[in-house]
Amino acid sequence: MSVKIKSIACIGGGTIGHSWATLFAAKGYNVTVYDVNHKILKTAMERVKFSADFLAEKGLITKEDVEGVLNRINTTTDMKECVKEADYVQESVSENYRIKQEVFSEIDKMNDIAIIASSTSGLLMTKIQKATQKPERCIVAHPWNPPLLLKLVELVPGEKTSEETVQITYNFMEKLDKIPVVVKKEVPGFIGNRLQGALWREALSLVENGVASVEDIDRAVLAGPGARWSIMGPFLTIHLGGGPGGLKHQIDNIQQAISDLYKSMDDWKFIPYHAAKKAIEQVEDLPMVKKKPFPEIVKWRDDKLVKILELQEK
Ligand SMILES: NC(=O)c1ccc[n+]([C@@H]2O[C@H](COP(=O)([O-])OP(=O)(O)OC[C@H]3O[C@@H](n4cnc5c(N)ncnc54)[C@H](O)[C@@H]3O)[C@@H](O)[C@H]2O)c1
Repeated sequence: MSVKIKSIACIGGGTIGHSWATLFAAKGYNVTVYDVNHKILKTAMERVKFSADFLAEKGLITKEDVEGVLNRINTTTDMKECVKEADYVQESVSENYRIKQEVFSEIDKMNDIAIIASSTSGLLMTKIQKATQKPERCIVAHPWNPPLLLKLVELVPGEKTSEETVQITYNFMEKLDKIPVVVKKEVPGFIGNRLQGALWREALSLVENGVASVEDIDRAVLAGPGARWSIMGPFLTIHLGGGPGGLKHQIDNIQQAISDLYKSMDDWKFIPYHAAKKAIEQVEDLPMVKKKPFPEIVKWRDDKLVKILELQEK
């Protein structure tokens, strides 16, 4: 395995793949992006340009660096061409075991030395790496959208992943200025998407049961818990809520109320069709979604994210 990472392959140039590619190139690495056809690759490079211009606009790279980012990224529809020289492969194809296994199996045959990392949001590496001859070099490196800006990367080894692979990937992520966390026990959805999934199930349930609208739920999260979550996690939040007695006092205090609350909550094991339909209709009716084209909403989000990240770093 190559300890010194110089050349990177991105498999898949969609929402996550193009953003990873921009980040890698902005940090000075040579990147080759593979996707299934030239039209998709052309769109991917337009998105890379948009993202690089955004970084320059925010002063995160210089105007001259934009050219450098674009020059350091090549594209190809030939997977072998993409991975043959790579020391590190970041796979960001569709979220599906069959597709990921096929792609991992192909890469494994075409390159002997690279670490092969998956961007999967919740699939298990133990299953994906079964399709390879060298499972020890396969790992989940799950970014948060957009990988270009958000720092969290969840590293999730499968049963056969080596400690060396975890360590090299961890060091590489730190070099990219990311915040890696190692998930010690493999579970679907890892850390972030399990927490997000729990919140999202309840948000859908509130909409389905007519407790509140999509618009008001989004406003409530933003103005209340979300404001605190942008500076601290759930444990410190509740600890402070307990006053000087902290988390212990708070747990003693809320035991009865939380039991009533949990009993009243839905515990769906899938997304009910009616709940999804209601939520989709209401999201499509949100003033921002109706008024602004999608890329403008993404730009609006990223403008704000940059400010929050600056605040978090203070
Ligand atoms: N979108 C998010 O918010 C997010 C966040 C973190 C991680 N992820 C994960 O990143 C991965 C990619 O997600 P995305 O949102 O970029 O998806 P996407 O649909 O935007 O992009 C996937 C790309 O992979 C390409 N691809 C290349 N080879 C393929 C093949 N053999 N089969 C199918 N597609 C192939 C597709 O053409 C497409 O361009 C998924 O595993 C997803 O769970 C997504």
